[in-house]
Amino acid sequence: MEKFNEGSTAAKRIRAYDDERHAEELEGIETGDYGYKYRVLEGIVVPPYVTPERYQVARSTRLRADDICYDSYPKSGSTWLANIIVLITNYGRPPAEGTLRSHLHWLESSWTYPRSPEEIADLPSPRIFKSHMPANMALGGDPAESAGKYVYIARNPKDVAVSYYYFESNKAWSGHYDAPWEHWLDMLTNGRVQRGDWFDHVLSWWEMRDLPNVLFLKYEELLRQFPAELGRLADFLGYRLSDEQLAEIERLTSFDVMKNDRFSNMHEIEDFEGFFRKGKIGSWKEQFTEEQDARFSRLIEERLGGTGLTFDYE
Ligand code: PPS
Repeated sequence: MEKFNEGSTAAKRIRAYDDERHAEELEGIETGDYGYKYRVLEGIVVPPYVTPERYQVARSTRLRADDICYDSYPKSGSTWLANIIVLITNYGRPPAEGTLRSHLHWLESSWTYPRSPEEIADLPSPRIFKSHMPANMALGGDPAESAGKYVYIARNPKDVAVSYYYFESNKAWSGHYDAPWEHWLDMLTNGRVQRGDWFDHVLSWWEMRDLPNVLFLKYEELLRQFPAELGRLADFLGYRLSDEQLAEIERLTSFDVMKNDRFSNMHEIEDFEGFFRKGKIGSWKEQFTEEQDARFSRLIEERLGGTGLTFDYE
């Protein structure tokens, strides 16, 4: 198991993903079409490195009032959000030690930075937790009963589908899945990709949006009206920052700065080359055929119509 490396200025290199080394528990890993690897937890498809044991640790960790858990379906801007949260809690300055990854705690994962319950309990406040779980499987148990704060970020599903396709293709944790786009789109719309059905995931958190300890953000709004969304997030987290500090956070979390900054660009994870791909709204247009777009748009209408949840697609 990789050892947690808190406090070190040199980021620990996470070697290429390997089930033996990183999934901890090999039993239960399944293989689908084109070699796609996954497990099923509580009926949801998850990556091999989300083990039942890690999941139980995540579920049973009790959150403190100043803990923050950020959550999303994959490829929805969660790393961007993570950097913003770390900078808010540090009043606009990147922490002197480590990299972004070393300031986040991803309890459901046995891969990039596993934590024992004792290490979790000893972490200094405010603890910042990462999760990609739907609300009914949330870190810390039921958000309605939790003392901690939850920030969920959602992104339009067409851009998510494309971003996720490029991220999962040929990756060891997905069994070097190597299929045509059409196959991926079919798996995604049938809830068979890791983290399950996009609609179920996003709607599970949308239904929680009025809880006082839940903030629901959208990638497109963050991109379009960054200062307003940043202010809303800082208020929600209970931090008062100066205009200079807020402006510095905007600068440090822009796509180009994050991509090139060794604090935030995840360079220490060997498999993450190409992680900062486009960072914009509407790249789905370069990928979807007209027919795929019409089909997916109908599904969006069916699943989101009447829920009040809408997205910008361009
Ligand atoms: S992951 O692997 O699920 O945690 O991915 P996640 O971080 O949630 O989402 C990755 C996408 O977010 C884009 N990104 C950004 N967009 C705008 N600004 C900033 N600073 C930023 N940082 C990351 C990243 O490029 C992925 O989207 P695509 O469309 O693939 O570019």
